[in-house]
Amino acid sequence: MKKSTLLGGLSPQRFLQDYWQKKPLLIRQAFPAFEPLIERDALFNLASEDDVESRLISIVDNQWHLQNGPFDRLPKLKQKAWTLLVQGVNLHSESANALLNQFRFIPDARLDDLMISYATDNGGVGPHFDSYDVFLLQAHGKRQWKISAQDDLSLINDLPLKILKNFQPEQEFILEPGDMLYLPPQYAHDGVAIGECMTYSIGFRAPSYQELGEAFLQFMADSIDLPGRYTDPDLKATNRPAEISNLMFDKVAAELAKVEFTDDDVRIFLGEYLSEPKANVFFDPPSQPMSLAAFKKVASKNGVVLSRKTRMLYRGKFVFINGESLVTDKNDKTLLAALADERRLNGPAIRALSPDAIETLHAWHEDGWILVG
Ligand code: SIN
Ligand code: CO
Repeated sequence: MKKSTLLGGLSPQRFLQDYWQKKPLLIRQAFPAFEPLIERDALFNLASEDDVESRLISIVDNQWHLQNGPFDRLPKLKQKAWTLLVQGVNLHSESANALLNQFRFIPDARLDDLMISYATDNGGVGPHFDSYDVFLLQAHGKRQWKISAQDDLSLINDLPLKILKNFQPEQEFILEPGDMLYLPPQYAHDGVAIGECMTYSIGFRAPSYQELGEAFLQFMADSIDLPGRYTDPDLKATNRPAEISNLMFDKVAAELAKVEFTDDDVRIFLGEYLSEPKANVFFDPPSQPMSLAAFKKVASKNGVVLSRKTRMLYRGKFVFINGESLVTDKNDKTLLAALADERRLNGPAIRALSPDAIETLHAWHEDGWILVG
């Protein structure tokens, strides 16, 4: 696939400048002659697995229903208006992963996953908005999208899913296989299947500041160092024993003001936080673990690749992988950064790593984070 069709002839930079987080873009034939990457039955199989997040949304007797997977059984194919949503398909399918990788002109720290929805005729998840940007790629069959820039994002109360109270569509399009619709966050939309259809959502992540703040305080709890204990050798007798004294308040406030954090604390926190795999991600360690010497030999010849499930980032002197951080020397850092960007490192690059870095790679291999060859 040529890059130029992906964004309808726009360069990534132009797309980001004019559309990203700003306004929708409909791209006819972003993926010319697109064929689904995963058969319907394979998708249903994924939805039956414990480590795959899936949801089933249906309308029965004019009522919305939501069930969470895994699903041993799904409604009949001839039953109308149900949708199966399968999250994180890129973690389980190489072709889905390769599709998601085409969107890596946007940083990994922002890219979330590939969700696939399967719907029977008239199926959809109702008019709603999402908090994140999304590319909606029509993979199979047709879907009608209605979209709106409306400010009124109030939701109907007491429903199992988020449905807009007053959806006022402003534009509508029918998407066919290979067509793709980009929507910025908070943009109201409603997609309805015209016959059986499959839609791929290329999803993004953007942590809320509250969520980051709470996680940061937890992270800092492990590293703050406030020696000593409260003392009051000058304590005076009181006739208001229930009052917290100025003496106590001032001393405690002064001690707590010593809690500080540095830019490196923020770097390490952010890298560990953003590289943390989701709770339902399990790695597959090699069935036949290799000794360090054997690993070094094979990796030096064939190189290594990151597991699809591995999240690897870097910033300054720090390298982050699956929620852990490490500091290396400049040469190792350059090579590990290349591993993170390319998601592979060839034999000659492996031979240029320090013995410490090879040992680290060996440990990652034992955990199933990287594969050799
Ligand atoms: C779908 O694929 O049915 C829903 C995707 C969305 O509206 O975000
Ligand atoms: Co949506």
